[in-house]
Amino acid sequence: MDRSSRPKLGFIGTGVVATALARGLSDAGYEVVAVHGRNRRRTEALARSLSGAVAAPSRQAVADAADVAVLAVSDDAIAAVAASIRWSPGRAAVHCNGAASLDLLQAASDAGAEVGVLHPLQSFASADQAQRLMRGSAFRVEASSGRLQGLLEQMAIAVGGRPFVLGANPTLYHVSAVLASNYFVTLLDLASALWPEFGATREEGLRALLPLVRGTIENVDRLGIPAALTGPIARGDAGTVAHHLEVLGELAPHVVPVYKELALHTVSVALAKGTIDRDRARLLTETLSGAGALAESAGAVSDESEGGAGCE
Ligand SMILES: NC(=O)c1ccc[n+]([C@@H]2O[C@H](COP(=O)([O-])OP(=O)(O)OC[C@H]3O[C@@H](n4cnc5c(N)ncnc54)[C@H](OP(=O)(O)O)[C@@H]3O)[C@@H](O)[C@H]2O)c1
Repeated sequence: MDRSSRPKLGFIGTGVVATALARGLSDAGYEVVAVHGRNRRRTEALARSLSGAVAAPSRQAVADAADVAVLAVSDDAIAAVAASIRWSPGRAAVHCNGAASLDLLQAASDAGAEVGVLHPLQSFASADQAQRLMRGSAFRVEASSGRLQGLLEQMAIAVGGRPFVLGANPTLYHVSAVLASNYFVTLLDLASALWPEFGATREEGLRALLPLVRGTIENVDRLGIPAALTGPIARGDAGTVAHHLEVLGELAPHVVPVYKELALHTVSVALAKGTIDRDRARLLTETLSGAGALAESAGAVSDESEGGAGCE
């Protein structure tokens, strides 16, 4: 592998990330020489979509043909797949698991190969949108050598990404991604599932909620946190929160713990924004702690000071 030239690439796995990275890098001028997955039909389809790539008969054939072999397989399979290959010095093995360190590729490292991580910080539900979504995404890059580090950074940039190096703790980094992305989907699932309780379908609910979500993301992008926070807690409307808890308790009790945990953290965000003071924060926290009498008095406070509550 020559520092000045682009490495020949190989892909093991034919899933969403393998397909998106292989096509994106091929479009950007990289030579993808070989691909291999357990499913022969998908392997051949991926190879056909890449100029010059062969559908390799085995993982070993990919590792032998490529300077950099990307093991874009399920997280739990990475170590075993790496250990099933005979690596040699001068080759490189790379995985795409954001939560894991280079240790997963110990077998390749022990055999003298360079090892690395190339993790696009993006949610890819299908290969077609994945290629588009990679543009502008952050890419976690880590490597056992400066040379591979440089090659991986160039690969990230070639598909429109922004490479960055993690200081420590990839697991916590991955938790952050899961909170922001996966659990956000779960929140929308919980939110849209409430719609049949007031006469609409979940699908109608989701369609109605999406513009609200897009507006919120735009606010976060434009104004940052805490400035983007709106809603009853940002306004200090403890009465509204008490009513929420009352109705949720009757109609969707499974949502109450999630609502309370998120609302308690939202009190801190509202305090940081400066739209509520310590007394109002205490009243909100007490309301969320579930004391019925407090919830009622919170309602009274809110009713007295009512006027101009927003849509949320
Ligand atoms: N999807 C995302 O949003 C995303 C984002 C960033 C990073 N990543 C990372 O990218 C990597 C690949 O994820 P993906 O989303 O592309 O997964 P995927 O679409 O589910 O594809 C997984 C691939 O791994 C293969 N595989 C699974 N178990 C295997 C085993 N025991 N031996 C050999 N191959 C095996 C599968 O083969 P079969 O098709 O034969 O089952 C498939 O080709 C993971 O490390 C993941 O953490 C994913």
